[in-house]
Amino acid sequence: MTRETAIRWVAKPLVFASALIPLAWVAWTAISSGLGPTGPLGANPIEYINRFLGDWAIRFLLLALAVTPVRGITGWTPLMRFRRMIGLFAFFYASMHLSSYIVLDQFFDWTEIWKDIVKRNYITVGMVNFVLLASLAATSTKGMIKRLGAKRWTMLHKLIYVIGIAACLHFYMMRKGVQLEPIIYAGVCAVLLGYRVIAHLKKKARAGRAENPDRAGAGTVHR
Ligand code: HEM
Repeated sequence: MTRETAIRWVAKPLVFASALIPLAWVAWTAISSGLGPTGPLGANPIEYINRFLGDWAIRFLLLALAVTPVRGITGWTPLMRFRRMIGLFAFFYASMHLSSYIVLDQFFDWTEIWKDIVKRNYITVGMVNFVLLASLAATSTKGMIKRLGAKRWTMLHKLIYVIGIAACLHFYMMRKGVQLEPIIYAGVCAVLLGYRVIAHLKKKARAGRAENPDRAGAGTVHR
């Protein structure tokens, strides 16, 4: 089996199926036990489901952001082939999270939903972030890369950094007060974005040295 066949027919379906496990688990648990207050989803199962889906949305977001640094450190380039799928799963879980809020939490009460979006800051941040993430999901196909042009597409998809930061902010604001869990997620996000900043600065320094080799070696040659 070639590496291409293994990625396409084994690894990708495996990653795809694994990414659906959290949703399958929560849906199965909710359906089989009902949404009563004494079931396995705790006293407030609707809140549990909504938070559970939000947690998986941010996890997939951070996983998508982790692909480039892990590739950079390990040199394992096939990893890049999974980045789009992981990013789309972040969008998928964010859509499920939003749907659970609209359907289970608010029962389609659009007036209340609008009031929430306008008045509760963490929901405003969540909503804006969802729209940004949707714009990346909608332009994630090869056809859209062609239509937008590689340069514009790359610029647009840099929004993923803003989305990562905003997701952490949404989590932190929602929990109110200083809590460990959102701080851990924000720390992971900071490391993943920090890696890119350092890689960018190193690349710039290398390019500078290549452009001007005399200056780069000045300290040693002339001494
Ligand atoms: C990129 C999009 C989003 C991400 C990554 C995200 C992620 C999260 C996370 C991680 C939590 C905390 C879960 C926990 O406490 O364990 C959360 C909570 C929450 N999110 Fe989002 N969210 C997003 C978009 C939205 C949108 C669009 C809405 C609604 C308009 C929303 C509404 C909520 C609500 C209501 C809670 C708190 C639920 C409660 O009080 O128990 N989120 N979200």
